[in-house]
Amino acid sequence: MKKRNLVIANWKMNPGSLEEAKKIFNTARDSAKKFKNIEVGICPPFVYLALLLKLQHPKNLFFGAQNLASEIGRAFTGEVSAEMIKNIGAEFVVIGHSERRAMGEDNEIISQKLKIAFDSELKPILCIGELERSKEGEHLAFLKKQIKECLSDLPKKYLIGITIAYEPIWSIGKSYKEAMTPTDIHETVLFIKKIITDLFGREIADSVRIIYGGSVEAENAAEIMEYGAVDGLLVGHASLTDQFPNILKNMDLKR
Ligand code: 13P
Repeated sequence: MKKRNLVIANWKMNPGSLEEAKKIFNTARDSAKKFKNIEVGICPPFVYLALLLKLQHPKNLFFGAQNLASEIGRAFTGEVSAEMIKNIGAEFVVIGHSERRAMGEDNEIISQKLKIAFDSELKPILCIGELERSKEGEHLAFLKKQIKECLSDLPKKYLIGITIAYEPIWSIGKSYKEAMTPTDIHETVLFIKKIITDLFGREIADSVRIIYGGSVEAENAAEIMEYGAVDGLLVGHASLTDQFPNILKNMDLKR
């Protein structure tokens, strides 16, 4: 069965007010309504998540968190549990984003968070990605290590259909001109699939969804979808702007 294209809007630590959050949400909602064959995931900061969830939205738009606590049922000041996220009606959670890894999250913590998400029936989106590319292919060994260490301790049943977001760190937060090329994305996606086949078998590898993130804008969305061999996109800064409807429109033209 063909997987539906997926676009995840990661708002990161934006915007500064609920008013603006509602505006950004309205733009996303209106465009999700127009493109029903695209699944649109919105990841606002926690302070807005529960409020936005109550607003009307089409069935192809769903909500996620940008993070969750790596512990359950403990005194853990400032953290938000998987149970809370699930109970307000969010469906997925981004785990292992490079900006969180930069704050000290390692593969072990990420593996723990993935397990907690699955146990709470939240769909995790596992982020992986190298800091830089090397001619010697060291970045490939790095990606392999991330995949192995994040996923190996999980029961196999959890891995079926998991979404992996490949976000090369060097291409995050720039303009589309500096994003990874679709050809390089394609090559890396094939590599990721091979690693998953080697580690967990073909059935799981075939079921995995791989999406790309890193300077996706309206200008490069279509060609990444067409030539990058990905199942969708993870969009940061452009998801906060009027570019977002055009990203959906351009994605819709392809595949
Ligand atoms: P940008 O789209 O701003 O490069 O961010 C990508 C990202 O980190 C999404 O999670």
